[in-house]
Formats: sequence, structure tokens, C-alpha cells
Amino acid sequence: MRFLTTYGRAISLLGREWRTGALLASANLAIAGIAFLDPVLFGWVVDLLTRSTQLPTDQLWPQAVRLLGTWAAVGLTGIVASMLVALLADRMAHRARKHEMARFFGHALALPPAFHGQMHSGALMRIFFSGADSLFGLWLGFFRDQCTTFVSVLVLLPLTLILNWRLALALIVLVVVFAVLTALVIARTESKQRGAETYHNKLAALAQDALANVTVIQAFTRLGLERRRFAEVQQQVIDHQFPVLGWWALVSILTRSASTLAMLTIVVLGTVLHLQGKAEVGDIVTFMGLATLLVGKLESLVSFVARLFAAIPTLDAYFTILDAPSSVPEAPNAPALAVTEGAVAFEQVDFAYPNGPAILRDVSFTAAPGSVVALVGQTGAGKTTAMSLLQRLWDPTHGRITIDGQDVSAVTLESLRETIGVVFQDSLLFNRSIRENLLVGKPDATQAEIEQACRLAEAHEFILRQPQGYDTLIGERGTTLSGGQKQRLAIARALLKNPRILILDEATSALDAATEAKVGRALKALMAGRTTFVIAHRLSTVRDADEILVFDQGRIAERGRFDALVGQGGAFATLVASQLTPAPDSNVVPFPVPRAA
Ligand SMILES: Nc1ncnc2c1ncn2[C@@H]1O[C@H](COP(=O)(O)OP(=O)(O)OP(=O)(O)O)[C@@H](O)[C@H]1O
Ligand SMILES: [Mg+2]
Repeated sequence: MRFLTTYGRAISLLGREWRTGALLASANLAIAGIAFLDPVLFGWVVDLLTRSTQLPTDQLWPQAVRLLGTWAAVGLTGIVASMLVALLADRMAHRARKHEMARFFGHALALPPAFHGQMHSGALMRIFFSGADSLFGLWLGFFRDQCTTFVSVLVLLPLTLILNWRLALALIVLVVVFAVLTALVIARTESKQRGAETYHNKLAALAQDALANVTVIQAFTRLGLERRRFAEVQQQVIDHQFPVLGWWALVSILTRSASTLAMLTIVVLGTVLHLQGKAEVGDIVTFMGLATLLVGKLESLVSFVARLFAAIPTLDAYFTILDAPSSVPEAPNAPALAVTEGAVAFEQVDFAYPNGPAILRDVSFTAAPGSVVALVGQTGAGKTTAMSLLQRLWDPTHGRITIDGQDVSAVTLESLRETIGVVFQDSLLFNRSIRENLLVGKPDATQAEIEQACRLAEAHEFILRQPQGYDTLIGERGTTLSGGQKQRLAIARALLKNPRILILDEATSALDAATEAKVGRALKALMAGRTTFVIAHRLSTVRDADEILVFDQGRIAERGRFDALVGQGGAFATLVASQLTPAPDSNVVPFPVPRAA
């Protein structure tokens, strides 16, 4: 059963805490035993009291002292065991959660773009935090309650058979009713609960998406619409959750009735048996106590199962993510990439995104060490994709990519990515200070190195103008900076990394002509001696490239130096011409402007 597998896996995560776990389990065993002994001792006391008038004093008192002494010892053991549980269980659960969250976080960060492309970061966050919280609650619940309950039900219940099998039977029937009802309801509501979970994740994704794009929502006056969409998904959650709750309410009513019935049975059956001489009054008292205890335990178990049941889809999602393999796995014992010169070669590379059409077709080219290769072509032609294959964010579906003759898929990812510096098409900055964003390029950079890189990237001055200079926080994705400022930070970050191979994906597209010229000079200095790939729509930026690759729908349609390509009069020449002369506007169709009614 899926339910038990997930529960078992969650508990087994405590493997590294097995010492504390074992101690807690023993304490639980003691607590369960004592809980069982209590009513038994009570029954014996009652028996002794009923016989007290017939017993001579010299027999009564020693018996009473022995009984009460045992009871006191049992009580003391109970106190010690409960203290152990109170002291250790919480700490252990906190430690284990810390460990698990760190593991999950590291794993999620290492998952390939194929994974992150499919899962919204909002949903991922929800699964991450709810999953970790569910695990925490589960571990704590296990050692605080369930462990004792399991022991009581599985071990001690059969022992009651020895005390009085006829009365014990009533208790056993009660447990079976609980178990069957719970299993039935789980089976009935499992799919609904999963549905509710799906909509919960959708809700998280929706909220994150909307909050991250709050500017768009406000500018396009979509407030009401977004709120309605949110409310719709909320309604879906409720629609899926309510029937499940209804079923659990029914279980709780039925189990309560079963408990009352079990009590009545014990009293009636006990009285009948007593009249027949088959049960002492003490037996009846003992079984009443045991029944009360058991009912309490079973009720808390049912409510725990209901809670766990609600958490199972999250836990399943949590484990599925933990089990997700990297789609660009490293070969076992893969060596580090040994860069000697920095020669890059694409050999008949084909690529398609999962379940998507072909994006790159038969792409072959070589970039000599230290050369500048430009990738140009219409938007969507596959330029960024080609460069993401070089960083091995994805693997080609056919062909191979080598750096200095080593297949990028045969070396460690870390060594590969350390070799390559990228200025991304979107600047992609952290919600941290400017300095911390720059240190991403080189964690141990000195202030002097940081400033040098920023001067080269024409960023130093605007940084000094920020309220706290290099320590200014720049907001989520750098919202407090202008597009050009973000780009200059991204360039400075890449400069600091000082990589052997550099990818500039529209690195200067957001800069004005004067700043671009200045940054361009810095980039030229940076490119010297390293193999560089420049992706640019503004063709003036690629004038000096050693080779220009013109991409057309995933193929390299033309290749050569700037002047030669212009001379050929092909696609590139047309592109250049279109950038020099403005498009004729004779056949512009006017878009109707709304007028006030
Ligand atoms: N993660 C992705 N999953 C699926 N398809 C993608 C993904 N990224 C890009 N694509 C698709 O691949 C194609 C090539 O995209 P790519 O980003 O490589 O184009 P590009 O040449 O860099 O364009 P631009 O000049 O606009 O940046 C596009 O059709 C795009 O829709
Ligand atoms: Mg692109």
C-alpha cells in the first residue's frame, strides 16, 4: 500500500539518528507497558480491597505494601520515560529536519533545467517546505504517540487474552473495526486528496507567479482578474478537500460509537461472566481501564492517520523530487575537464527540448583557441540553445560537443562550468547586495579586483551612486536597477570569473550606444586570449568576429567573416541591410485607437 510505503520511508529517514531513535523507542515501549500495567494493578488493588475483610491483617498489609510499591516503581519508570521522550524527540526531529532540508535544497539546486522547466518554483517551494514540515510532524508524532500506540495494539492487546480472553475479545473487535474503517476511508478518498494537493501546488505557483509579476498586473489593471483566478483555484482545493473531510468525520463518528459499544459490551459481558464466576470485579475494572486507554489511543491514531493521509501527496511529491535523477548525469569517475587551449567543436549536433520539435539540426563548427565566434540569426533560431548545450545544461540528441578534444558529457559538470563564463540574455541577479552578486563570479575576490572589473564594465560609477554603494541591496532579480545597469553588473560578474571560454548572450543589448562603445572596449580586452561566443542582434557588435555563424531555424545557413558575408549577398547581407535602412512604412495597417464613448 502506497500509504504505508511513504510512511515507512519517512520514518526510515531517521536512519542516521538511530541511536536516539532506539532510546526513544525503548522509552515508548516502557510507556506502553506502564499504560497497560496501570489498569491491571488497579484491578488487583480492587480485588485486594474486596477481599480485605476476609484476609487476616498480617497477610493483607504485606500484600498491600507489595502492590503499592510496585505501582510506585511503575509510576516512576513512566515519569523517567516520558521525560526522555519530551527531551529527545523534539530535538531529534529538529535535527533531522535541518538535515533533510539541506539535502533537498542541494539536490533541487543541482537538478537540470529539464526539471526546473517543468516545475514552477512556487510549487517547488511549497513541496519543499510543506514536505519538510510534514516529515517533522510525522517524526515527532511517531515518537510522542504512535510508537506507543503501535506497541499497545500489536503486543499488549494479545496479552490481555491471557488475563481474560472473553473480555479481551471485545477489545480486539474494537481495534479491528477501527482498522477496517480507516483503511476503507483511505481507499475511498485517496484520489480526491491527491486532487486537493495538485490544486494546492497550483495555488502556490499562481501566487508566486502573480507576486513576482506584480508590476505587470498593476500596469495591465489585472488585479480583479488575478484575484478571481486565485479564488477559482481555491474553490477547486475546497471542492476536493471537503468530501475527504466528510469521510473522516464519518470515521470519527463511527469509531466513537464503536468505542461506546465496546465499553457497554465489557460491562454487560463482565457482569454476566462475574455472575457465572468467570470474571472477578477486578477483571472488569481492569478491562474498563484498558478499553478507555485503547479508545484514546485509537482515536488519536485515527486523527494522526487522517493528518498523515492529507500529507501523503506532498510527501510523495517531496520524495519524487529527491529521486529525480539529473538528466545530464555525470559518468562515474568522470575526470575534470583539462583545458589546454580552449578549442571548441560542435560535431553534427541535433537537439530538441523534451517532447518538442527539432531546435538544432546538424550544427557543426569549430572555434579556434582565443577566437571570437558570433552567432546571429532571427529570434528563436536556436542561438541561446546552442550555447546552453556547450554548458551542458542539456545533452544533444545527436552528435557531440568537445572542448580541447574532450567530450563535454564525459567530464565533471563542475569543471566544465568553471571553464565557461556567461553573460546571460536576462541578467539574472540575486536579491542580495551588489557585492554579493559580483562575488558569485569569484567568491574570494578582493575589493580591488571587484572595483577593477566594475570599472571595465562601466559599472563602478553607478554603483557608487547607489545609497550604500557596493553594499546596496538590489531587490528581487535586480528590480531596483535599470536594464543597462543590470547588464553591466552581469558583465562585471563574468569579468571577475575570468573564464577560459566566454559566452556573451546579448550582453550589451540594453546599453545606449555610448555606453555600449565603452563596455565594448572592455569586452574586447576581456575576449583577448579566450575563446568567445558572441550572440548579438545588433550586427555592428560582431563586425570583428573571426567567424560569424548565421542561424536559420536551427541550421547554420551561412558562415564567414563580416565583409565576406555581406559580399555574398545572402541572408546575412539582407539582415545587415535591414538594420541600416529603416523599414518602409507604406503598408502599415493602423491599429484602431479606442475613443471615449
Ligand atoms: N527551455 C525550453 N523548453 C522548450 N523550448 C524552448 C526552451 N528554451 C527555448 N525553447 C525554444 O527553442 C527555440 C530556440 O530558442 P533560443 O532561445 O535558442 O532562440 P534564440 O536564437 O536564442 O532567440 P533570441 O534571439 O530571441 O534569443 C525557440 O523556439 C524556443 O521557443
Ligand atoms: Mg537567445
